[in-house]
Amino acid sequence: MSIVITNIGELVGADEERWLMRDAALVIDGDRIAWAGSAAEAPAADEVYDAGGRAVLPGFVDSHAHLVFAGERAEEFAARMSGRPYAAGGIRTTVAKTRAASDEELGANVRRLVAEMARQGTTTVECKSGYGLTVADEERAVRIAAGLVDEVTYLGAHVVPAGSDPDEYVRLVTGEMLRACAPYARWIDVFCERGAFDADQTREILTAGRDAGLVPRLHANQLGHGPGVQIAVEYGAASADHCTFLSDADVTALADSETVATLLPGVEFSTRQPYPDARRLIDAGVSVALATDCNPGSCYTSSMAFCVAVAVREMRMTPEEAVRAATEGGARALRRTDVGHLRPGARADVLLLDAPSHIHLAYRPGVPQVAKVWRAGLLV
Ligand code: NIG
Ligand code: FE
Repeated sequence: MSIVITNIGELVGADEERWLMRDAALVIDGDRIAWAGSAAEAPAADEVYDAGGRAVLPGFVDSHAHLVFAGERAEEFAARMSGRPYAAGGIRTTVAKTRAASDEELGANVRRLVAEMARQGTTTVECKSGYGLTVADEERAVRIAAGLVDEVTYLGAHVVPAGSDPDEYVRLVTGEMLRACAPYARWIDVFCERGAFDADQTREILTAGRDAGLVPRLHANQLGHGPGVQIAVEYGAASADHCTFLSDADVTALADSETVATLLPGVEFSTRQPYPDARRLIDAGVSVALATDCNPGSCYTSSMAFCVAVAVREMRMTPEEAVRAATEGGARALRRTDVGHLRPGARADVLLLDAPSHIHLAYRPGVPQVAKVWRAGLLV
């Protein structure tokens, strides 16, 4: 079954040389992109869909989210907006609620959020554990995530659970918990931050994860300056996430590495922190991704369009840079070559906007502009 989407006013990400094509067409064959080019030259297909001059983009790649949780923390958000600072300890509130929830409840929450994301144009989702913090609760988090999202990350090292000895907890995270979770996960992550895990603990956990076949990614430099980014680079992490407080040495280390800087502007919005300096990173040659960090604490948005708008307005990214970071940047942060673009061979993850241009994502903030979404060739 093939479909040709024709009369595309602006086709984004379908050609290596030309990121943006006008008056274009796109052919989906089964679950893959089969052809992209000028509308005048489009081949025939089983079905024709007229895009009416609107813009077509690759589906968003949300490379950082925490979706396996129960409950919410709206009161904590309200308190922050009245001046209380965000602290890592808030995670423990969600841990208690998550442990008390059934597998069915947790699965339903992930499904609800993945569906919410899909309606907003997100077709690839990464999801972390980290609200269980016991062997059984972390194992079920990665198991539930593995059935519902594209990419799963073991984040047993989210915070030391209340009442636990930190050294003993690190032994658990690198031992029994890792063995239970590794079969369901591709990635290992650590919240390397004051109030969570320090440099030595982070190295120990990443080393154990790597030995178990997981690939590192890291929560780094979110709440203050610290060693996270340097450790991410040292371990060849796919991504250093947050990057809000960076020294010149951190920026240079990222620029000289393959590690993507994943910026999560919804977090700074929702914690009233300064935004990461995307301009400084891009100008230094760092590869940048945008993601939501969707979680009940520091940032409860599932909207990549919102992140794009904030990145453009507050972080001085151009609309093109922001949309690239939300698509091909996310794919790089997940080391995926089959998503984040619409070149032939890509998974047919296609976002038709109710707008003539990708610029409208930032130009019309907060406005629903998703007309249709195909994921792997199927309408969402
Ligand atoms: O990425 N920083 C650590 N973890 C999440 C927040 C989790 C929470 O507050 O519940 C984050 O911001
Ligand atoms: Fe996070």
